[in-house]
Amino acid sequence: MPKREASASMLRFLVLHGPNLNLLGKREQSMYGRVSLKDVNASITQLAKQEGVRVEIRQSNLEGKLVTWIQEARRRFDAIIINPAAYTHTSVAIRDAILGVGVPTIEVHLTNIYRREAFRHHSYIAGVALGQIAGFGPAGYLLALRAAIDHLRNAGSLTAQSLT
Ligand code: DQA
Repeated sequence: MPKREASASMLRFLVLHGPNLNLLGKREQSMYGRVSLKDVNASITQLAKQEGVRVEIRQSNLEGKLVTWIQEARRRFDAIIINPAAYTHTSVAIRDAILGVGVPTIEVHLTNIYRREAFRHHSYIAGVALGQIAGFGPAGYLLALRAAIDHLRNAGSLTAQSLT
């Protein structure tokens, strides 16, 4: 296969991890597993390379920082993949930022939030997201990246072939 070079026309994705996800691999291992954020990010970067797209990955524990990054994504990124973590259940500000910039956004959760405590069942983000992937651990980020690429390249007509 020919090596894909970076080019101006390459699709650009912003991956955002919310609060406490920097502790992945150490935090509540029975819930979130043993894989570190560094390793999760390495697998996202690897898939991006394979797919010939650009990816930038950031993590913050601060709501305002996440809001600013979402605002700055306008015209700089073609889609956002975000695990807002605890802010999922509290942040009207993150929801408004996503609405405000109009960049297609996919929400990811490592765990199936609907099988957990009732306060996790509501997401402020889901209503403004293209879609949500929850419950598949770190693979959720890769599924989201594939879904976002498919959305942008094929107008969302996912086929089994486009997933392999
Ligand atoms: C989480 C689920 C949230 O409820 C929680 O606050 C997190 C992680 C997940 O990835 O499963 O920090 O977003």
